[in-house]
Formats: sequence, structure tokens, C-alpha cells
Amino acid sequence: PDLASVLNVFDFEAIARKTLSREAWVYYSSGSGDEITLRDNRQSFNRIAMIPRVLVNVSSISTTTRLLGSHCAMPIYISSCALGKLGHPEGEVVLTRAAGTRNVIQMMPTLASCGLDEMLDARRPKEGGDGWQDTWFQLYVNSDREVTKRVVQHAEKRGCKGLFVTVDAPWLGRREKDMRVKYVDDAPDIQKRETDTNGKLVNRAEGAARAISSFIDSKLAWSDLSWLASITSLPIVLKGIQCAEDAVRAARTPRIAGIVVSNHGGRQLDTSRSGIEILPEVMDALNAAGLKRRIEVFVDGGVRRGTDVFKALALGAAGVGIGRPTLYAMSTYGQAGVERLLDIFKEELEGCMGLMGVTKISEIRRDMVDTKYLGAR
Ligand code: FNR
Repeated sequence: PDLASVLNVFDFEAIARKTLSREAWVYYSSGSGDEITLRDNRQSFNRIAMIPRVLVNVSSISTTTRLLGSHCAMPIYISSCALGKLGHPEGEVVLTRAAGTRNVIQMMPTLASCGLDEMLDARRPKEGGDGWQDTWFQLYVNSDREVTKRVVQHAEKRGCKGLFVTVDAPWLGRREKDMRVKYVDDAPDIQKRETDTNGKLVNRAEGAARAISSFIDSKLAWSDLSWLASITSLPIVLKGIQCAEDAVRAARTPRIAGIVVSNHGGRQLDTSRSGIEILPEVMDALNAAGLKRRIEVFVDGGVRRGTDVFKALALGAAGVGIGRPTLYAMSTYGQAGVERLLDIFKEELEGCMGLMGVTKISEIRRDMVDTKYLGAR
């Protein structure tokens, strides 16, 4: 279908399901186990209700904000997803370019099918000529710490603005749909990455996820964060926090600048709670401990509507990550598709703000959403 006829974020998914290779579709769409968490990520948003305010002058609305100090067009970033080339021959650089034209931050994945430099080379010069579009780097800590040190320091040297350490994948979630498909690929850079990071051949007979993730260090612990802080001056954000206790611990850890409340898009531990459901208890705990201003809180998982973004911000998030929608838009319509996706999010968020009686992001408050049914099962 014509891109102009794509009206909402779900449309991209429906088209991707029909047009992607089986291998790409199952890798992108799958969740772990019975996919209960995957479904809950959506359902939780639907269980939150909006409480609009009326008679506010909403003739002019701005969605701009700052995330980790970077100016962005809206409180949405492209979250890191591995293996972009399964869906589009050019891979993640497509996302980089779209993020650049829309002034949105892309979190670049360790397991991208493009090299980090390739993605960084695709950045757009900033308006006013002061450097390049802001990007973040998502890190999987390698069992070989020297490899990690090299990658992190390279990302910093090349101007990445934040280091997002994924902490919810010490073991790989069982994504059975993906495991049933034999992963055969001939993309040479993926091949190279495998030997770069592992020095050994990996088992390709158990799905894409298993084929690429064997280097991730399952020994990584809180005590390693001081080492990480010692090799970089980038703001460090822990991606994959799932309870108040860990959020408070993160906020008390030196050099931790933020957390992403996330269950990895329902791909890791099934029947864990949705990020949006965890967010209120995380904010309450940070507040009670006097730590709310110490860290920036992000949330991801199931964000598909402008109202979802508003709900996350009302409950305390500074910004939200989107994963699968970016893969589906990229795979079906390339850069124009991702740009349209971001435009849809922006239009929906503006429309939502207007009807909520809010003209700028800082006016979004917790008493604008009703969470009475959020914990219901
Ligand atoms: C991911 N995600 C992810 N996260 C991460 O830290 N490193 C990674 O390599 C990947 N890879 C990855 C691949 C695919 C195909 C998906 C769908 C997701 C998780 C991602 O960053 C994000 O947390 C979720 O995707 C957010 O949920 P939604 O928006 O997909 O519902």
C-alpha cells in the first residue's frame, strides 16, 4: 500500500507481517515463553485512562524536550534492536538518517548489522553547524572486557552522548518462534562480528537470537559498574530495570545517570510486568529516597500511540523508547517509512496534548491519568 495510506503505527506491523521474510518476521515479532509479557506491554497502556482538562488555550503546542541533555523534537527515542539487515538491505543506517531528519535520538545497538562507524557516518550535521545529530550507544558487555573497553571508548570518541548498558539479558530469553526457524544468513559483516567478538563459530541452528548473543557476559554484576565508569565519562544508563529496589540501587550508584524501565520488549523473562506498570512504584521509591533528581527515568515496551507517550510522561518518565515499530517501518518503506512513523507519533502526541489541555511537555502531570485499573489482570 501507498505510504500515505498508513495511518497509525499498527498499520506498519500489519504490512510487515505480510511482506517480511519468515526469518525476519519471527525474529522481530517474537516474545519469550507464552508471550504474556509481550501482550501485557500493550494491555497495560490500554488500562490507563486519560483525565483531560478543558478551557485551556491550546492553539500552539510544543513537543520538544531534553533527554540526557540533548534537545529532541519529542520525548521519544529509537531503541536499539539487533539485526536491522534482516528487514532492510541497508540496515540501521536507515534509522540513523530518519532520526536525523526528525531530530530524534537513535540508540545504536552493539548487535547492529551495520558497523558503529557506518551508523555514525550517516549522522546529519546539526542545525547551526555545531557537530552531528545526537545519538546513544547500547552496550552488551562482552566476556572479553578489552573488547568492551575498545568499543565504549570508540563510541565516546566519536561523539555518542549516552551509554545504555543492557542489564536484562545475562541469559537469553526463550523465544520459541525464533528458535524454530533455522538462522541462515550470508551477511558478511554479521559473520565478521561473530568472529570479532567470540573468536569462535556460533550455533546457527537455533534461531537468530542465539546465533548472535553468545558473547554477552553473564557474570556482569553491580560491582562491575565502577569499572565501566572508569573507562568512560559518558552518562551511563541501565537498560532493563524492573523493580523499585533496583531503581533505587541504580540511583545510589556513582555515575549512573539514568535507568530504562523495560522488559526488553517481552523477549526476556515471560510473565514479568510491563514497564509502564512498574513505573509508578519506581518513581514513588525514588521520591521517597530523595533520589528523583539524581537520575533520568525512561520506559519502553508496547508504546504505539501518542496517548501512550503522554501516559508514560505523566507517570514520571522523561522519555520513551520504541523498538519494533521502527523495524517494521524501516523494513516496509525504508527511510520514508521511519520518517512517517515518527511524524505519526508526533501528530498523535500533539493531538493528545491539545485535548488534555497541555501545551508543553513540562505541563504533563501525574493527576492527568487514572491508573486505577493498571494492575488488574
Ligand atoms: C530488541 N531489544 C534489544 N535491546 C537491547 O538492549 N539490545 C538489543 O540488541 C535488542 N535487540 C532487539 C531486537 C528486536 C528484534 C527487538 C524487537 C527488540 C529491545 C528493545 O531495545 C526495546 O527494549 C523493546 O523493543 C521495546 O519494546 P517494543 O517497542 O518493541 O514493544
